[in-house]
Amino acid sequence: MSDTSGNAYPSFSSRLAFILTTAGAAVGLGNVWGFPYVAGKNGGGGFLLLYLVALALVAAPAFMAELLLGRMGKASPPTALRRLQAQAGSRVPWAPVAWMGLVATILILSFYDVIAGQALFYGWTALTGGFAGWDAGAVTALDTGFKASPAMAAFWSALFTAATIGIVSFDIRSGLERAGKIMMPALFLMLIGLMVFALVEGDAAAAFAFLFGFHDMRLDTGVVLEAVGQAFFTLSVGVGGIMTYGSYMGADVRLPRATLWIVAMDLAVALMAGLVIFPLVFAHNLDAAAGPGLIFITLPLIFTNIPAGAFVAFVFFLLLTFAAITSSISLMAPTVARLQEAGWSRARAAATMGLIAFLCGFATIWSFSDWQDFYPLAFLGLDGMTAFDLIREGVSNFVLPLSGIAYALMIGWWLKRDDVRKALPAPDGALFAIWYRVLGFLVPLAIGILFLTALVG
Ligand code: TRP
Repeated sequence: MSDTSGNAYPSFSSRLAFILTTAGAAVGLGNVWGFPYVAGKNGGGGFLLLYLVALALVAAPAFMAELLLGRMGKASPPTALRRLQAQAGSRVPWAPVAWMGLVATILILSFYDVIAGQALFYGWTALTGGFAGWDAGAVTALDTGFKASPAMAAFWSALFTAATIGIVSFDIRSGLERAGKIMMPALFLMLIGLMVFALVEGDAAAAFAFLFGFHDMRLDTGVVLEAVGQAFFTLSVGVGGIMTYGSYMGADVRLPRATLWIVAMDLAVALMAGLVIFPLVFAHNLDAAAGPGLIFITLPLIFTNIPAGAFVAFVFFLLLTFAAITSSISLMAPTVARLQEAGWSRARAAATMGLIAFLCGFATIWSFSDWQDFYPLAFLGLDGMTAFDLIREGVSNFVLPLSGIAYALMIGWWLKRDDVRKALPAPDGALFAIWYRVLGFLVPLAIGILFLTALVG
């Protein structure tokens, strides 16, 4: 049960270990695959600004709230929230929020494993001499071939899931923590190397203008919802993974400062990913608004005719795989923690959850092939959305912000202000007062209004 001795609750070994591991949970496909394509699709700079506002005012405060609930509850999310509910003397049940989060972890894992599997497959393709000198048809065929073949997608997704299960099976320090400590620094090194390469080799000026300049900014509920959804998704807020990591954080961690570091790293990786992709895209006159295919079609097209293309491709997809793994383990951690409370071993719990997520993954795998034109909720007016679209957008744009509201209310309204402040810990000054008000009022109001406008609009 424990990492070191007796039955003590497990903990990360140091502040740095906590920060790297939790940054690993945040930094993932959402940064490297998601951010560039969502920003690209929505016109670049204007979207970035919206995203920054959503991050700073809504998602980051909620992220800190989730970490804090973990620190105060020191258990798996359902157990932690049940305890805190008792401590706050609230009559509203809190645990259902945690259970909803656990269901969401399985749904996210189910599609995450498939996309990560494709990254793994592309890394393998590069390693075995792929990309260099290929023509455009071959690159497109790699993507369509992968998606058209459920067996192939399932194979790579299974490999990735197995790696996730393997890491989560170990105890906290030799599993989650070691993965973060090794993969995060490696990821940063690779990303910086690729960024320098792309800025030199590609069209840096066009990339900066696109990413940081204003042009045809679209401002409607859909875009705002997408910015908020992306901000929640990228910080992994709202499913209990962050709460679980928070429960393992040592007593010496100062939460406000740690949050700042983690959010900064997450943002840095998203921006650097943009500065890897867009200089190359513009230099090769390709479409920055290509959407989800940006990484699996557009970018590989470029890898076919740049110097050392296969090597660059390999580094890029290895980086993507590392980013994905340190996140997928955080998606498995909360259910495994809950099952451990029920007496299961970590290995058995991880294998079970991995298998369930893998099987649910067929909804995504088939959405790319046999179910391509099957819109499960068309009768609700959600026409044109595949099972994959529904899962991905339903979780990011709905479940995550909803949990965000719940966390905000738990801390801003129910738990005692002073207990909250001491658990951070933070001095009783302006900064704390602002965060506390933001949680109590701004976060629920902003998300509530957004939901309402999305409903009527
Ligand atoms: N944040 C990760 C990414 O950007 C994905 C992720 C991991 C996640 N755990 C999560 C998203 C929990 C939402 C909720 O890729």
